[in-house]
Amino acid sequence: MRRGTVRTSDAPQHSTRTQVAIIGAGPAGLTLAHMLAGQGIDAVVLERQTEDHVRSRVRAGVIENSTVDVLTELGVADRLHREALVHNGFYIRLERTTHHLDFHRLSGRNAYVYGQAEIVADLIDGLRAVGREPVFRAEEVSLHDFDGTAPSVEYMLDGVRHRVDADVIAACDGFHGVGRATLAPYTETLERTYPFAWLGILARSTPVTEEGMYCAHPDGLSVHSMRGPQLSRQYLQVPADTRLTDFTDEQIWTELARRSAADDHPPLQTGEIIDRSLAPLRSVVTQPMQLGSLFLLGDAAHIVPPTGAKGLNLAVSDACVLSHALGAFYATGKREELDAYTARALPRIWQAQSFSWNLTSLLHKFSDDPFDWELRRARLLRWTSSLDEQRALGEIYLGLPFPTSWRFT
Ligand code: APR
Ligand code: PHB
Repeated sequence: MRRGTVRTSDAPQHSTRTQVAIIGAGPAGLTLAHMLAGQGIDAVVLERQTEDHVRSRVRAGVIENSTVDVLTELGVADRLHREALVHNGFYIRLERTTHHLDFHRLSGRNAYVYGQAEIVADLIDGLRAVGREPVFRAEEVSLHDFDGTAPSVEYMLDGVRHRVDADVIAACDGFHGVGRATLAPYTETLERTYPFAWLGILARSTPVTEEGMYCAHPDGLSVHSMRGPQLSRQYLQVPADTRLTDFTDEQIWTELARRSAADDHPPLQTGEIIDRSLAPLRSVVTQPMQLGSLFLLGDAAHIVPPTGAKGLNLAVSDACVLSHALGAFYATGKREELDAYTARALPRIWQAQSFSWNLTSLLHKFSDDPFDWELRRARLLRWTSSLDEQRALGEIYLGLPFPTSWRFT
């Protein structure tokens, strides 16, 4: 059966063949492309946006140990090792008092702070260096015959229709992409939405602490992270219906300073705001993450709220699972590993969902009910005082191991 419609007048003028058609040049698509290159598997990456756009999107930037290991093995982590900020844990600020949770002391591991845009740039440069240039500005991407074993992808580039025949389509095209929409009739979506969003800024200002900090203020969360000694990345919990224009720069700084006020640290420094973003908070899992020859990876399959910054790490772990399965498929000709993709990927995804939901529930204001605040306060004080709690939190914050290595052999 041919799923998707193509008018005959739009018949492709260019046809090519590859083994894996990857849709989307975000962290999921680009790491998968590297992993396949590392196994000698042919792939084409099709990205809707321009290269400049993809390289300059400001997103989260907390990288787990397993993610760093994979990027290192793929040979794209030289700059990361030079420039990433290596953190032992994070700070919690509660009632004007700052507490440091030192996960490194408990586990010997670290978290790395390195912006997603930098990782994406390193991955694109790495692909270019091995002659696997992604196709940018690929418009009207459509997926065909994915329920069989001979799928194809069509797209427009500079007014010309192209067709790529493949063995497998890896949809790494995010929450609003064509992969998730195409599979929607055949999958189940489990989700929670939250009554708030994060207003994020990138600013030329000295970060308030040397490691990231969550300020659990009774009026709402503020998050204080960084990208360098003079570059801060900060977020404010705001109502879900907030628009970016609802706040002036001055109002953002006032609110960040109010929520982060402390008796044991100097006040927050302000500076020029060079990027602003607004992200609604949701938890979503689409399952199964596959049908026939079509596989969903990263944000196309699941979304975590940004609290704890698991999104990029999950995208990379999905790429590991699919890369391993594709390695097995091309080495043995058998589809078992491909068929097991969802089952192998989901347990780690649900661990991350559970962690992100817990962190979100504890750190945000959900209601004006003082009982709600006291419960959150009690739980947060427990985090600051119990090493057992910190060990458990750190284990997932620094990252659970990936389900498999990206290489089959
Ligand atoms: N055709 C081609 N490309 C598309 C299409 C389409 N129809 N729709 C979306 N894309 C591209 C987007 O432009 C983007 O570059 O797919 C890419 C998806 O990348 P991400 O949204 O970064 O998703 P993913 O690679 O799964 O990485 C997840 O990114 O969203 C953040 O915080 C999230 O850290 C997480 C990570
Ligand atoms: C970030 O640095 O962008 C960041 C830090 C911590 C989070 C989310 C994002 O929980």
